[in-house]
Amino acid sequence: MAIAGDLHGAWTDKDNSLLKELNPDAILFVGDLGEGDIRVIKCINKLTIPTAVILGNHDRGNDSYGDQLRNYLSLLGDKDCSWRLRKWTLPPLSVVGARPCSSGGGYYLSSEVKGLFGPVTLEESINRIVSAAGQASKKWPLVLLAHSGPTGLGSDASSPCGRDWKLPEVDWGDKDLDIAIDRIRKQRKIDLVVFGHMHHKLKRGKGFRKTFYQDHFGTVFLNAAIVPRKIVNETGDVLRHFSWVKFSNGQLIQASHRWFRADGSIANEEILFENIKSNI
Ligand SMILES: [Fe+2]
Repeated sequence: MAIAGDLHGAWTDKDNSLLKELNPDAILFVGDLGEGDIRVIKCINKLTIPTAVILGNHDRGNDSYGDQLRNYLSLLGDKDCSWRLRKWTLPPLSVVGARPCSSGGGYYLSSEVKGLFGPVTLEESINRIVSAAGQASKKWPLVLLAHSGPTGLGSDASSPCGRDWKLPEVDWGDKDLDIAIDRIRKQRKIDLVVFGHMHHKLKRGKGFRKTFYQDHFGTVFLNAAIVPRKIVNETGDVLRHFSWVKFSNGQLIQASHRWFRADGSIANEEILFENIKSNI
């Protein structure tokens, strides 16, 4: 399964063509698609493979009634995972979306999100995520899809959700997602939590962010936000990034960052996780 990190407008028909060539079982988008540019959503809508999207803080529109946001979500239709289970028959895994348009930092609703969804409280948001996870088949692995990751993954600037743009360095994750994860765990295993928002390259010349974490419950946390996700390498090849995860027999067996050439070949791969035992 492919995961597209924060796009910030970098998605065109060429990305659709590459994805067709790669032919993953599904594609997840972690949000910050196009700064309100609906051409990106329209392009994503042309994809024919199973697709799940959570919108980011840069996708919330710019009107306090939430009308633009309503339009984006309406365009996405079933692909939108805001506080809900993405229903599909294949691949055999469940994707549940967290709170849409999150900007991290604990719990905060923008005026656009309030305009569309109302003044959703922290507890209501937790309940929505837990309730959506409760609808997922327990026979399938569970993937949580969020724009910002949860609190609890560290307080350093380089932590998967650490604040890097100013001091003090703090945990900038989402509290509702963190508490929802704790509650879902009382019912079932969570295999993977995928998010973006906090870019890999750190501000203030602090290097690069940790993009992977596995907790003692076995849940894998993956930050997919390599920005920009399209680069030109030293030999002139245009490379596009996807995070990539593999499941086998209901188990997550590999997670990686991959840079692809236009013909679908891998130019560079960073393996983050490999479960050899489950792969036998
Ligand atoms: Fe963001």
